[in-house]
Amino acid sequence: MVQDIISIRDLEKADIENALLTAADMERFAEKGTTMAQGKILSTLFFEPSTRTMMSFQSAMNRLGGKVIGFSDIKSISVQKGETLSDTVRMMEQYSDIIVIRHPLEGSARLAAEVADVPVINAGDGANQHPTQTLLDLYTIKKEFDTIDGLTIALMGDLKYGRTVHSLAYALSLYDVELVFVSPRELRMPHEVTEHLKEKKTPYREVVNLEDIPKVDLVYATRIQKERFADPNEYERTKDAYRIDKSSIRLLGDARIMHPLPRVSEIAPEIDKTPNALYFEQAGNGIPVRMALLSMLMGVNR
Ligand code: CP
Repeated sequence: MVQDIISIRDLEKADIENALLTAADMERFAEKGTTMAQGKILSTLFFEPSTRTMMSFQSAMNRLGGKVIGFSDIKSISVQKGETLSDTVRMMEQYSDIIVIRHPLEGSARLAAEVADVPVINAGDGANQHPTQTLLDLYTIKKEFDTIDGLTIALMGDLKYGRTVHSLAYALSLYDVELVFVSPRELRMPHEVTEHLKEKKTPYREVVNLEDIPKVDLVYATRIQKERFADPNEYERTKDAYRIDKSSIRLLGDARIMHPLPRVSEIAPEIDKTPNALYFEQAGNGIPVRMALLSMLMGVNR
């Protein structure tokens, strides 16, 4: 296993499978807790907003019996006085045994890992990667379908700036899947990702409209992320590109629907109670998966 989790591309398939197995094993502690990480401290450094990632890491560490320190409002820390990210990380590694960082700049988590001697986990660096989301996505897919191989999976929405879909596409290239990319032309999957898929011989096709999605097992929907657009007009043109609601869901048959959340308007609340909806369960899977990752990186999962 790697020392840090920065990019899903740093992980071998065996590392991923091991993490998923460990997560399954953690399910038994996910409610009643354990003392495995007693005496250990997690730092959560969130330079961008988060509900699921930050809270589920905090919850996971608490359930492992460890403690959590950190911030989620950069106005409250000394970067306001001009302190660099490197110096902030150097401080936090002295105050804790493991660091989780989310930052708007691509490469920031890699920098933090280079500076820190304690393990660093990337909780999202700009539009680049969100590897722990991917691991919980894979865990959710495996739990639902008993397999990842053989599935046809559509990734839909903001494929250009969406770090969750970038990480997920890389990870799925390790499996025997077919991919369908559904996005407005302006928000297509980046060339770097599609080139990687070609190298790995992972079949993919690109479509623009919901109506053009072929029969798939799973639709992984994402939000059009206003905060990533340099051009507000581009956001206005694309923000309502997709909406899964009572009327459009018939186009997807019995496909399961996942979403990293938060959602805005791309999935109507009326879908939540349908058998298609898997996104709240998916978010819940963040607990055993993050318990697994924390325990493995801290070396306490024995
Ligand atoms: N899925 C996800 O990263 O959600 P948050 O932004 O709320 O952490």
